[in-house]
Amino acid sequence: MLCVTLTGNTHEENSRIIKEHSRSADLFELRIDYLEASQLDKTADFTKSAGKPLILTCRREKDGGKYRRTDRTRASLLARLLESGTWSYVDLEEDFRRSELEQTARSRSIEIIRSFHDMEGVPDDLFTRMQKIARRGEIPKAAVTAKGMKDVITVFSAETQLASIPRKVLLAMGDWGIPTRILYKRTGSFMTFASPPGFSAAPGHLDITAMKELYRSDQVDASTAVYGVIGNPVMHSASPRIHNPAFHALGIHAVYLPFQVDDVRNFLVLADLLKIQGVSVTVPFKQQVLPYLGKISREVKQIGSCNTVVREREYWKGINTDYYGFLHPIMEDLNAERIRKAAVIGAGGAARSVVWALRNHQCQVTILNRTPEKAQRLAQETGSSWAALDDVSAVSGSDLIVQTTSAGMHPYSDIDPLPGYQFSGREILYELVYVPEVTKIMKRAAEAGCRLIPGRNMLLGQGIMQFETFTGSAYPFSEDTVVF
Ligand code: ATR
Repeated sequence: MLCVTLTGNTHEENSRIIKEHSRSADLFELRIDYLEASQLDKTADFTKSAGKPLILTCRREKDGGKYRRTDRTRASLLARLLESGTWSYVDLEEDFRRSELEQTARSRSIEIIRSFHDMEGVPDDLFTRMQKIARRGEIPKAAVTAKGMKDVITVFSAETQLASIPRKVLLAMGDWGIPTRILYKRTGSFMTFASPPGFSAAPGHLDITAMKELYRSDQVDASTAVYGVIGNPVMHSASPRIHNPAFHALGIHAVYLPFQVDDVRNFLVLADLLKIQGVSVTVPFKQQVLPYLGKISREVKQIGSCNTVVREREYWKGINTDYYGFLHPIMEDLNAERIRKAAVIGAGGAARSVVWALRNHQCQVTILNRTPEKAQRLAQETGSSWAALDDVSAVSGSDLIVQTTSAGMHPYSDIDPLPGYQFSGREILYELVYVPEVTKIMKRAAEAGCRLIPGRNMLLGQGIMQFETFTGSAYPFSEDTVVF
C-alpha cells in the first residue's frame, strides 16, 4: 500500500492533496502535529469526508515531528480524535503506552501501529523490538537512519529475518534508505510512505508521483527484476527516467532505482540479497568496480572504466556504454572523415572514454586540461597531444571540440572553460554537460554558427544502450518514454 503523509496546516489543504492523489494513494496519514491549533476541532468532519482510509499520527519533535506539548496533553488530544473521527489506524510510539488510548482504538476497530524512530542509526535490537510489538497484536513500524550500505543490507534482511510478522513497516531514512522505501515489499513491509509533490515530510521521503508513476513501487513483488544506478552522490541521476518508462512501455516486470553506495563490495552483497540483475555505474565507482568483474569488454579494458554491469550466470560482466553513447551522434562524421582533428577539454574519467573513442577512429586529438600534468598523462597513454587549458592556439583548426569538464554544469553554470577561444563557426561543439541544457560555451559556439551536440545526446545514447544490454530489447521511443 502507498500512504501519502498529509502535512498541510489546514484541513482544506489536506483535502486538496487527497483529491489530487486519491487515485495513486491507498491511504493517507494525517499528521496532526502540522495542523494549526484552530483546525483540530474540525478533524472529525475532515475524516468523514476524506473517502480513503486514514492513519492518525501526532509526531513529537524528538521523532522528527512538530508536536511540542506534553505527552499528557497529546494523549488527551489523541483520545478525543479517536472517539470522534473515522480512522483505520492510529500511530502510537513504542514508549507511549496509554491503556485508555489502546482500549479506545480497539473498541472502534482502529488498528495500532506501534512505531519507533532512530534519528541517529540502526539500533542493535531492531528486530527483537519489532517482534515484541507484533506479539502484542500491534503492527510494528520502525524508521531508522541508514548511514551506509551495511545498514541498508540490515533493513532488507528483515524480509527473511522477520518473515513471521505478516504486517510491519521497516524503512531507512535519508538518501541511503531510499531503496528501502521504493522496494518496501522487499523489506517485508506492507506499506510505504510518500509526500505530496514539492514537500518532503521526512528525510528521504519521495513524492507520490515518483513512487506511483516512475517506480511503480506498489507493483514490485518477488518476481520483479531489479536494476539501478550506483554512485555517490546519485539521487540527481536522470537514469531512472530513461529506464522505468521503457520497462513499462514494453511490459517488462522490472524497476530501476538509485542506490547510494559507499563501497562496491558492500553493494554486491545487497545485489545478491535483492537479486539485482544489472546496474549503471557512476562517479566515483567506474574504476573501483573493475576488480569485481568476471568479464570485461574490449573498451572497458582499454579505457579502464566501466559504467554498466550486468549479471551473467555466475559473475558480473562490465561494459562501457559511455564510449558508444559518445560515438553515436558523430559516427557518420567520423566515417566520412569530416572529423579528423579534435580537441578534448578535460582529462578526467569522462575524457578517457572520449579520447579513446576518437583515437580508435583515427582522429588526431589534443587534450587541454586545467591541471596540465593530467592532460600529459592521458595524452601519453592514448597517443594524443596535450596543452594547458589557457593555450587556446592548441584548439585552432579542430573539427570537433568536446567539453568533458564540470565547468558550465549546475551550479557552475557561469563558467566557460575556454573563454579565450574564438569559435570560427566551422567546429562542432560536443558538450557533455546536460544540466543546464545550454551552457555558456554552447551559447558562444551557437552565436558563431557552430553545430552543437548537447550533453543530453550522450546521456540518452549511453542509457539506451544500457537498456538494450539489460533487457535484450530495443529501446521503445515514444512520448511516454524519454520524458525529460
Ligand atoms: P569526470 O568523470 O566527470 O570526468 P573527473 O574525473 O573528476 O570527473 O574530472 C573532472 C575534469 O573536469 C578534470 O579534467 C578537471 O580538471 P583538473 O584535472 O584540473 O581537476 C575538470 N574541471 C573541473 N572543474 C573545472 C573548472 N572549473 N575549470 C576547468 N576544468 C575543470
